[in-house]
Amino acid sequence: MTPSPDFWKPRTVPTMYFIGVTTAKSSIMKVFPKWSDILKLGAQIEGYDALIHAPAEDYRAIVRHIKEDPLSMGALVTTHKIDLLDATRDMFDYLDPHAQFCGEVSSISKLDGKLVGHAIDPISSGLAWEAFVEPGYWGRTAAHVMCLGAGGSAVAISVYLANRPDPADRPRKFIVVNRSPGRLESLQKIQAQLKTDIEFEYIHNQDPIVNDSIMSALPAGSMVINATGMGKDTPGSPITDKGLFPEQGIAWELNYRGELDFMHQAERQVENRGVRVEDGWIYFLHGWTQVVAKVFHLNLTPELFTELDRAAASIRS
Ligand SMILES: NC(=O)c1ccc[n+]([C@@H]2O[C@H](COP(=O)([O-])OP(=O)(O)OC[C@H]3O[C@@H](n4cnc5c(N)ncnc54)[C@H](OP(=O)(O)O)[C@@H]3O)[C@@H](O)[C@H]2O)c1
Repeated sequence: MTPSPDFWKPRTVPTMYFIGVTTAKSSIMKVFPKWSDILKLGAQIEGYDALIHAPAEDYRAIVRHIKEDPLSMGALVTTHKIDLLDATRDMFDYLDPHAQFCGEVSSISKLDGKLVGHAIDPISSGLAWEAFVEPGYWGRTAAHVMCLGAGGSAVAISVYLANRPDPADRPRKFIVVNRSPGRLESLQKIQAQLKTDIEFEYIHNQDPIVNDSIMSALPAGSMVINATGMGKDTPGSPITDKGLFPEQGIAWELNYRGELDFMHQAERQVENRGVRVEDGWIYFLHGWTQVVAKVFHLNLTPELFTELDRAAASIRS
């Protein structure tokens, strides 16, 4: 986990960091060099692996390094979005409104010598959502969302949903389940400030059998999201193999790599329960392209996104 002493030396080429848990295994390590060529950045990417809920000093060390080293251009943050901002808030010169509201940063960049933090996930999770949930879905089905995990992604997805203008694009109910009560309380405070008719329910639980029973009570068509990191950051799944997904429902695993136990549990119910299964690849693409655009100050046009998407797809297959 501790990077080598060389990690902290000033960079000789423009460097973007990926702050995560198992960064070497991410597809971005192969995708980024291709994107750097397409975008003519002459840049490299380096991973920084931190323990889940790492000590504040670890987060401060990496943010200090980015801030002080001229060729350290910025970073994408996953999993640590909330904890990192809690530990380093005073080091940022500017936090965008989403970062302030959601209490998280997924993008660290620099502008005119200032350190800038953005919360990209309310945008990138929404772009990913719209790629597989058709307009009017929630009005047509009156279905609910059950989100396992109340971390940065759960905050972002709920903020995105609350801001959807058409009532038919908002679920009536959004149930959040989390292992620690603290994250549920923080989420509740954020959601209390949202002007929305979505009904939020908060459940403190980490017993997969209880999650199965909550899931079994959902109306047909409901979506179950695995936002716990289980199946990638930690082993297992938040539900058991006996858990029944909603009939004609949607299972969204936020990750695209790892054991993905939750996703495989859902895949076994595609035929008999009509479950639709989505992984985190599109979310990954939107998140990374948005943050690369912030870090290198690019205009991410739809045409450019398509080109980067194509280059990434060639590596995935
Ligand atoms: N595809 C993509 O591009 C993409 C984008 C964003 C996120 N992700 C992935 O999505 C996952 C979640 O991201 P995040 O940023 O939201 O992480 P996070 O802030 O660490 O949140 C994870 C939450 O899940 C809770 N949790 C863990 N195990 C649980 C269990 N068994 N039951 C209930 N709650 C549990 C944790 O609770 P505690 O408070 O007890 O720790 C924590 O609040 C990560 O693996 C991340 O890599 C992927």
